[in-house]
Amino acid sequence: MFEQIESAFRSIVSAMQIAQLYTTAHPRFSKFLDKAYDELQAILKSQSELVFGIVNGELAYGKEIFFDLSKNLSLAIMRLQQKGVERISFYRGLEKKELAKFIEYLAAPKDEIKKEIEEFLIFSGVKNISAGRIKSDGASNKSASEDKDSRSNLYEASSQNVSRTLQDVLSDEGVDYLNLRFTLSTVMENLITNFEEFIKLTTIKRYNLGTFTHSLNVSILSMFFSSKLHFVKDDVLEIGIAALFHDLGKLHISNKIINKPGRLTDEEFAKMQSHTIIGAEVLLKHVNTLGILPVVVSYEHHLRFGSSGYPKLTFFKEPHVASMIVAICDVYDALYQKRNYKNNFSPDLIYDIMLKEREKVFDPKLLDKFFSMMGVWPVGAIVSLSDKRIAVVREQNEDDIWSPKVEVISPAEAKEKIDLKEKKGQLKIEFALNPWVEGKEYLALI
Ligand SMILES: [Fe+2]
Ligand SMILES: [Fe+2]
Repeated sequence: MFEQIESAFRSIVSAMQIAQLYTTAHPRFSKFLDKAYDELQAILKSQSELVFGIVNGELAYGKEIFFDLSKNLSLAIMRLQQKGVERISFYRGLEKKELAKFIEYLAAPKDEIKKEIEEFLIFSGVKNISAGRIKSDGASNKSASEDKDSRSNLYEASSQNVSRTLQDVLSDEGVDYLNLRFTLSTVMENLITNFEEFIKLTTIKRYNLGTFTHSLNVSILSMFFSSKLHFVKDDVLEIGIAALFHDLGKLHISNKIINKPGRLTDEEFAKMQSHTIIGAEVLLKHVNTLGILPVVVSYEHHLRFGSSGYPKLTFFKEPHVASMIVAICDVYDALYQKRNYKNNFSPDLIYDIMLKEREKVFDPKLLDKFFSMMGVWPVGAIVSLSDKRIAVVREQNEDDIWSPKVEVISPAEAKEKIDLKEKKGQLKIEFALNPWVEGKEYLALI
């Protein structure tokens, strides 16, 4: 029975993901809807109702908690919670069109259906499903800090999903493409609705060397960048997926070489460079699910504008635009993780380094566009101003990349929002603080 219930929930989630990524008209939607419906019917034959609960992000049935399932479906569960669904009851007599309505509600963007779930179900004539929050007293008025927490959780959950997918590809297991697309599209939705909060999060996480943090950061940056370049939603997602796998080949190269502090020998350097080809070869095996773009990007992301870089080609070939986008985001994120006498590279130094390579390495127009979007001091950076106050970068001024809008956070009595563009010549940013070292005490304030 337990497996049956688990499987029914999985099918509901799959139908929801299909509806969210495509539409309810997609043939795979009706496939999963049918499956979920049949499974629920089978369960409701032996019991008159089936009640799920979501407690602290875990899916529960009665006193049992589905830990494994909760881990795998953490983003979907988060979505249910965001939609105000913390308990779901299915009753005997359930009709397929009722289930379809319910899933439609779960898949719809937040601002498309303004009604709360209880009201929506009544309004739609759904009698055999009830759903809502576990505690109704004011729980729907989520505080700003709860909202912030849920975005931070989203980043963590995405990071876990991403690492699982990368490992699946490496170990030659089938990729749960639907879940991967769902993960990235949730990230993308958040980038669109609240990119400043989300970019802030990547700015902070960038200093933290998690194994898969770099892959996820490059993917998020590439999606953000390509959406700013007005690519359509589907292409943005494809670029995000390709970006995620850009360094897959590195997982085949010994850590001794990857983490070697000094200069690499010629042999080691050649080995290191081979990650582009190894990655492309591994990804070729997954072309049916992931498409060809990850292969292209893995192969080309170190090819430089004007065909320098590696792998060495015997003919001239300009890299694919997705490879050029990923190359910029990759170098940008990787420079953040470089250490110089124990210190991180500061954002202004990173800008200088990349600008020096403007013509030789990157597509110059793309690079300019990148920095007009990111600014020299990225959103979320904790910075020291020339009057010694500490501030956080809130928003860029696209026409003046050195002078963003900031908010002073310390000293507490001097809190204010300042547009540095308007204070040119009087006030500027002097340097950035590492949010995990000297900037740590301010982390809670941003
Ligand atoms: Fe690479
Ligand atoms: Fe990389």
